[in-house]
Amino acid sequence: MPVEASNHAADIDALFFFITDVSVILFLLITVVSVAFLWLYRRKGKALFTSPISHNNRLEITWTIIPTILVFVVFFWGFRSYLDMQVIETDAMEIKVTGKKWFWAFDYPNGVNSVNELVVPEGKPLKFLISSEDVLHSFYIPAFRAKMDAVPNRYSVIGTRPTKQGTFDIFCTEYCGKSHSEMIGKVRVVSTTEYNKWLEEAESGGNVSPAEFGAKLYVSKACATCHSVDGSANTGPTWKGIYGTKHKMADGKEVIVDENYLRQSMLEPNANVVAGYQPVMPTYQGILKDKQIDALIAYIKSLK
Ligand code: CUA
Repeated sequence: MPVEASNHAADIDALFFFITDVSVILFLLITVVSVAFLWLYRRKGKALFTSPISHNNRLEITWTIIPTILVFVVFFWGFRSYLDMQVIETDAMEIKVTGKKWFWAFDYPNGVNSVNELVVPEGKPLKFLISSEDVLHSFYIPAFRAKMDAVPNRYSVIGTRPTKQGTFDIFCTEYCGKSHSEMIGKVRVVSTTEYNKWLEEAESGGNVSPAEFGAKLYVSKACATCHSVDGSANTGPTWKGIYGTKHKMADGKEVIVDENYLRQSMLEPNANVVAGYQPVMPTYQGILKDKQIDALIAYIKSLK
């Protein structure tokens, strides 16, 4: 089992083990009894025929009532655990989770956002408000034992409280297209002090040059999923040496890659689609701040 890093992880695990144990015990019991009966009641001589007993009320009631009780235990236990995740604690911090082809975007209460990296303070009740911008995705943090579909035009909710510091996986568990397997992220559970420090740096990049900040954003905003910086082919054009070059678009016109073109490509990616590529890039409108766009442009310019 992955580590238990949220308030309801232990409960989910207990239910999981209960179902597993009951299944194993019943499987063994039924198998052993079946094999034993096959042996004990085999045809022992020519004159022996099948027993004339047609049914046994007491036995039939017993094997109906026991499984019914087990099913109800599992149902109410599971239902209670589900409600635990749906009922939001009053002082919960709301984080908007958005699935897009193919990354996760997180919006924090004070306007900061991150991509594929979710940072949360330990011990703080959280409300994940989950939706999708395109197709069905499913937001899954195994260490939190929390999973919820991300549905376009609809919000779904998970209430949880991280109880352990560390870095844990985030997966998409709904097949959502070509790069579904790359739709992965990390959740970092940190102390409140560290969280506040991270918020500050996420906003401004800290004390680094625009190009260095851009290099960080290249990874943290998931540009790296589709664009290489070493010239190799990927879902989107490589960034290496792209600045200042002339590109042929799918509609036949030619565009020079300058600051305005790069900015437009981030905010309105379908305005100009480079010939030979699919129009699959999501818009970064609302995700990238002006300062971050500037930094990314500076980074792209630095890739000679
Ligand atoms: Cu998103 Cu699979």
